[in-house]
Amino acid sequence: NLTELIMETYYDSLLENNKNWVADKLKEDPDFFNKLAHGQKPPVLWIGCSDSRVPANEIIGAPPGEVFVHRNIANMVVHSDMNLLSVLDYAVNVLEVKHIIVCGHYGCGGVQTAMTNAHVGLIDNWIRHIKDVYRMNYEELHVIQEPKARVDRFVELNVFEQVCNLAKTSIVQGAWERRSDLHLHGWVYDVADGLIKDLDVTLMNNSTLQNVYKLDI
Ligand code: CO
Repeated sequence: NLTELIMETYYDSLLENNKNWVADKLKEDPDFFNKLAHGQKPPVLWIGCSDSRVPANEIIGAPPGEVFVHRNIANMVVHSDMNLLSVLDYAVNVLEVKHIIVCGHYGCGGVQTAMTNAHVGLIDNWIRHIKDVYRMNYEELHVIQEPKARVDRFVELNVFEQVCNLAKTSIVQGAWERRSDLHLHGWVYDVADGLIKDLDVTLMNNSTLQNVYKLDI
């Protein structure tokens, strides 16, 4: 059937595209892959949404080797998530990245759903973390009348909360104790125009955290 044929052609094109990409890279620089094979020293850890419209490297023009990437639904930093913590520990303590960027995006399905009473499935329990951010910012959010403006602000507040969650980890506070060049940033990407908004919430130490979160390291 035609649909099957189209999907198969699409699938084959992915591997074909890969071959073309390799050829293009080698044309630009015959040593491109040899250099990458020697190892990585990326300056940036990217924590972004799994959304297919927000490809980390592409939207900031970063070539392979520059960005260590962790993506999950709604770019969450959950302090008991072993996957996130492993990525964070490796990036901070082995690769010694200088910048950790939490990049949310307007039009985020996870954030939108968190504002509603929708029951989707297993994901309800992941989205619970985002609902907590809504509760913590209820006073600001519930007075915003226009639905899009409200969810856009919720996206921004969620990014800010995840930047704070990074700062609360023993990994980031430990690194801050040893070196002064680790910056945490919060960004929001707009899928409608491709532009990134820097929320200007950069953290370089734990001084702005509520006292209970400060660790004696
Ligand atoms: Co999203």
